[in-house]
Amino acid sequence: MSEKQVLVTGACGEIGQALVQELARKGGYKIVTSDLYPPPDSIKPLVAEHVAGDLVYKVKTFYDYDFDIIFHLAASLSSKAEIATEEAHRINVEGTMQLLMLAAYRSEKYKKEVKFLFPSSIAAYGVPNIEAKKQAGAVKETEWNTPHTMYGCNKLYCEKLGLYYSKYFGQKHLDEKPPAMLDFRAIRFPGLISAFTMPSGGTSDYGPEMLHAAAQGKPYACFVRADTKISFMAMPDAIKSLLILMDVPREKLSHTVYNIAAFALTAEEFRQRAINAFPDAKITYDINPRRQGIVDSWPQDVDDSLARAEWGWKADYDADRFFDDYFLPEIRKRYGK
Ligand code: SER
Repeated sequence: MSEKQVLVTGACGEIGQALVQELARKGGYKIVTSDLYPPPDSIKPLVAEHVAGDLVYKVKTFYDYDFDIIFHLAASLSSKAEIATEEAHRINVEGTMQLLMLAAYRSEKYKKEVKFLFPSSIAAYGVPNIEAKKQAGAVKETEWNTPHTMYGCNKLYCEKLGLYYSKYFGQKHLDEKPPAMLDFRAIRFPGLISAFTMPSGGTSDYGPEMLHAAAQGKPYACFVRADTKISFMAMPDAIKSLLILMDVPREKLSHTVYNIAAFALTAEEFRQRAINAFPDAKITYDINPRRQGIVDSWPQDVDDSLARAEWGWKADYDADRFFDDYFLPEIRKRYGK
């Protein structure tokens, strides 16, 4: 079978590096990557070609490529996006729009299906206050679509743009089935934690930052309150979800956007688990009100029954397995503790 051509944007980020490694391990893909930066050593030997630079201006480079699958991961995350809002909008919305146009053009011109995988986020949700957050519990995809952040607004809008370009672009008769299509599929990710890379610019970053600091014996001041609870996931599960969703036959999917869940913990529960594993860990709290406001607006958990029902989603790592079978063994190897 011939190789599938894959584009991974934002390839130097956390999801990007892990995804490229897994695609290379599986085999059968010609991997083209793009990012602001040159590829790190972790993925450099695995990619056929890397295009460095601002995606909004670089998209035209890709018009001659014959991509079967696009993973559009490049984004400015929630905390960073709140500091440079217009720039975030440009990266998050304009970049996505440019790439969707390219995929729609290719699928229409060459009568070929192009799959477009998009990481959305729990930031697409927004609850008005702590009481509503408690009451909301694990939210469904259609609930509380009222984001409080630029990043969340951008993600929610791009989900809609994806649906538009895949279904309505060209305004065919509603019953007319297009011969080929841009096949847009999005996952609303919880906070992700890798044992190999560190996040930057996000607001769920206190989870991974705390754990990596504890493992290195460095003090850490957590920027949200002890009782702050959101949903988290191990990076291998995030990559697994993208690859499952990539392969699910379209007819099994009745939606374009899916929640996935693994475990929801409070900051204090993270702290206790970090101290149990690394008894010398010095973890304190120093609340950043702006970042606290962002996580307070995110649901404490998400309901992933749609993904379970339609594409058999199930996380491998609950909280115990995340620590015992993934994070702690890997991080001990990495930092030698
Ligand atoms: N991890 C992201 C952030 O904190 C949420 O998608 O911005």
